[in-house]
Amino acid sequence: MSQSPDVSLVDVDDAVLESLLALAKRDASPDEVAPPLGGAGWNPERTAWFRSYHRAAADGLAGAAGEKTWGVLCGGDLAGSVRLRRVADAGSGTVAETGIWLGRSFRSRGIGTAALRLVLAEARRAGLTRVVARTLADNLGARRLLAGLGAHLTPDDDGTVGAVVEL
Ligand SMILES: CC(C)(COP(=O)(O)OP(=O)(O)OC[C@H]1O[C@@H](n2cnc3c(N)ncnc32)[C@H](O)[C@@H]1OP(=O)(O)O)[C@@H](O)C(=O)NCCC(=O)NCCS
Repeated sequence: MSQSPDVSLVDVDDAVLESLLALAKRDASPDEVAPPLGGAGWNPERTAWFRSYHRAAADGLAGAAGEKTWGVLCGGDLAGSVRLRRVADAGSGTVAETGIWLGRSFRSRGIGTAALRLVLAEARRAGLTRVVARTLADNLGARRLLAGLGAHLTPDDDGTVGAVVEL
């Protein structure tokens, strides 16, 4: 990639939420952005899950859901979403899990890398010491993205790869 894209994170208020839902429906696969609810494709169950999931995360890492979601803006266009969620921590540090999806038309331009860099900065600011992620072993884009951010990747028997970034 020759130039870093102009990427920023925006809080998910009602207007951003509806724009994100529209982006997800027109430019992503349902399985990339929502659990497999109510059968294939977009359906009322997935749509309801999408809205309640982002609303529950509105109070941020310190809220009841222990989770924060953002919209990813690229040059003013909404490109996708990232999340950070506190997870149970066996050690002394504070750990959160991250995840990301972008609309197809925004992929492979460095936007995912830039967005996750911003999420890692948010995690550091929140006092977290480690960020983890999990992706399918055949998701080469996600694996390269995470490796490029310094993640240690470990394949598991279930066809997934765990990623750990020490902050
Ligand atoms: C995974 C995803 C977020 C990557 O974001 P992106 O903006 O396309 O990634 P970037 O352009 O920053 O590229 C990051 C690295 O991955 C590589 N890459 C990106 N897409 C790729 C693809 N489809 N196949 C192979 N490599 C790919 C890039 O070449 C780059 O590698 P490099 O740094 O070694 O050159 C995006 O493809 C996406 O939203 N996919 C659908 C949802 C998903 O799979 N989320 C991840 C679940 S954890």
